[in-house]
This record gives sequence, structure tokens and C-alpha cells, in this order.
Amino acid sequence: MNNDLPTPSSEAQAHSEKLVAYIREAMQGGSISFADYMQQCLYAPGLGYYVAGSQKFGEAGDFITAPMVSSLYSQTIVQSIMPTLKETDGAILELGAGNGQMAADILLFLQQQGDTSTEYYILEVSPDCQAQQKQTLEKQVPDALVRVQWLQRLPEDFKGVILANEVLDAMPVHMFRYQKQELLERRVTWQEDSFAYIDEPMQDEVLRLAIAALPLTQDEKQDYISEINLTLPVFVRSLIAKLQQGLIVFVDYGFLQDVYYHADRNQGTLMCHYRHHASSDPFLHPGLQDITAHVDFTKVGEVAMHCGLQVSFDSQAEYLLSHGLLDLAVTDDEKQQLVYSQQIQKLVQPHEMGELFKVMCLEKK
Ligand SMILES: C[S@@+](CC[C@H](N)C(=O)[O-])C[C@H]1O[C@@H](n2cnc3c(N)ncnc32)[C@H](O)[C@@H]1O
Repeated sequence: MNNDLPTPSSEAQAHSEKLVAYIREAMQGGSISFADYMQQCLYAPGLGYYVAGSQKFGEAGDFITAPMVSSLYSQTIVQSIMPTLKETDGAILELGAGNGQMAADILLFLQQQGDTSTEYYILEVSPDCQAQQKQTLEKQVPDALVRVQWLQRLPEDFKGVILANEVLDAMPVHMFRYQKQELLERRVTWQEDSFAYIDEPMQDEVLRLAIAALPLTQDEKQDYISEINLTLPVFVRSLIAKLQQGLIVFVDYGFLQDVYYHADRNQGTLMCHYRHHASSDPFLHPGLQDITAHVDFTKVGEVAMHCGLQVSFDSQAEYLLSHGLLDLAVTDDEKQQLVYSQQIQKLVQPHEMGELFKVMCLEKK
């Protein structure tokens, strides 16, 4: 990853300009919250990053997620949830299934274990991602397609396991700034020929209260920029309400609040990805780059405990290693062994995905 972003094609630029016009219309010459800006950049109908048909995932796209690193990843995850699937006699519901690689690997692994009956549901907000998921499954596990259903909304009284791999980081966040003891909302406006931040006195009371509940110290209030996901508690609560019995597994990059909102992290965690280049500028090529923020796992855990669920929290490395990742990689084929060991490094090494990525499991009944 570096900051020399490649130039998009003229077709891609024209697409971005359409989204810019769409967002500017919503601004009506003023400003919008960063969360509204991010929502439109990622999900504006027909125009947003996840909704329009660009290549997002994999080597030819913008970023790679753990299911694309190795099928061992999804195999380990499914191995870890098998006891719950058996106990609840339940199904799997995957949220935001991206290009469908995790679904394909899970269904294939279940088949290999003799399980051809577990149902697989996918809830995906992007029609473009849904189409990619169908393609992947048709190609890799055609026999299992009969067990897969795409849902428009969360099912009632769900029993089994809800999986969300890198979904929470793709949700819009509000931005804020403490400057000379004053709390400002970091909003988005149009200046000359591009979008730009504008820091305005905080007027949103819900946002003010949510920020007041964060463990920020007086020091941090000197000049401190960060972000907060106001939808997160509502989203987690809605999943818990629909889960009658079973497990919710979130895997994502993120921190507990003491680390997330530490004084040293005074620029927040906002990150954008375009063609495997990382930048912190969300105004470059609107609609063509992914925009993400780290996940506040303290908030997820608090909501779950408040609802009476049991919570476990591990680094990705701890979780995968304690659920049999290495055993799954045992093979007599030396070439394959080498490939596996490179993939395992990527999944568990602290400087790769091992430490930054966390696994939070919420268990109900
Ligand atoms: C970063 S991608 C991760 C894709 C995939 N899970 C993976 O790990 O490769 C985020 C995915 O979440 C989806 N998404 C975002 N918000 C969602 C929501 N509220 N419900 C369901 N899916 C959502 C996006 O459309 C996209 O498919």
C-alpha cells in the first residue's frame, strides 16, 4: 500500500462525477454530515461504491479480505461454529457476503463433512455484490446453490449462526473534532471544485451525547479528530432481537475503546482503498474508492451484554489458531504446504491480519 493513487479511467471518472452531482444536490449549497456523505459514496442507488458494478474485491480490485487470502480461513470459522449449528439445528446467515468466497468455502467444507442440509442465507445490501455472490457459488459449489437464499431483511426467530466478516467497518460514521476544548462536528461541504471538511459547532444532540459517553481524556480535547458509528448499537441490537438461539460472529479490524479513542490516535481511523492503495482522503474519486473506519468493539460488546448475551473477544490469530487452523493445513503435498504456510502467515502474523483483526462472538441461550 502506498499513497500514489493510480488515475481512474475516463469512464470511471464520469461515473464519479455523476455521484458528485448527486451528493451536491443533497447538500443544497450547505453541508451534510460525514455519515451521510459516506453513505452516499458507498451505497447511493446505482452510483455508490458497493452498489455500482466496479471490480472491488481481489487482486484486480481495491482490497483483499481474509476469505480471499485462503479457504483455510472460512474452513476454520465454520469448524468453530459447528457445535452451535448442531446444538441449535440451525442455519447460517451471512451478512454482506462480498464476492461470495466465504459462502462458497463454507458450503464446500460442510459438504466434505457430509453436511448437505444446513441452509445458508445471505443478507446483502448491494445488488451488484449479490450478483457476484451468485456467480461465485454457481462456479465453485453448484450443488449447494439449492440451499442458499438471498434475503431482503433479517429473518424472524433465527436459529443458528450469523456471520459478518468486514461488514461493520463498511458502515457510515460521523466525524467530530475537539479543538480548544470545543466539540465540533466535522461535516462535508463543497469548496471550489471538490468536497472538503467543514468543522461546525455541534448541533446534533444525539451525536453530542454519544461522544460524551466515550472515554476521551482532557488532553485529547486539545485538538483531536475521530469518528463514531451511531448505527452500530442499533444494528447489533436488531441482530440480537432476531436471533432466537445461537451465535453472532463479527470479524473486523477494530479496537476496544481505550485503544480506539487513545489520545495518540488523534486523527481517527478513517481509511480509503483504491486499487490496493491506501489513503486517508475520502474526497478523492468519490464512489470509486472504498471508505472504512475501524470498529468500536467495546460498543458491540456492551450492547450484547446489556441484552444478556455472552461475549468473547479474541485477536484473529488467537481465534484461528485455537479453532484448528493449523490442523486444517496438514497435507502431504509439499507444494500445497508451502502455499498454506504463506497464507497462514498472512492470516495470523501480528504485522499482517493477526492482531489488528478481531473476532467478537455473541452467544444467545
Ligand atoms: C468490506 S465488504 C466485505 C465483504 C465480505 N464479507 C468479505 O469479507 O470479503 C462489506 C460488505 O458488507 C456489505 N454491507 C454493508 N452494510 C451492510 C448491511 N447493513 N447489511 C448487509 N450487508 C452490508 C457490503 O455491500 C459489502 O458486501
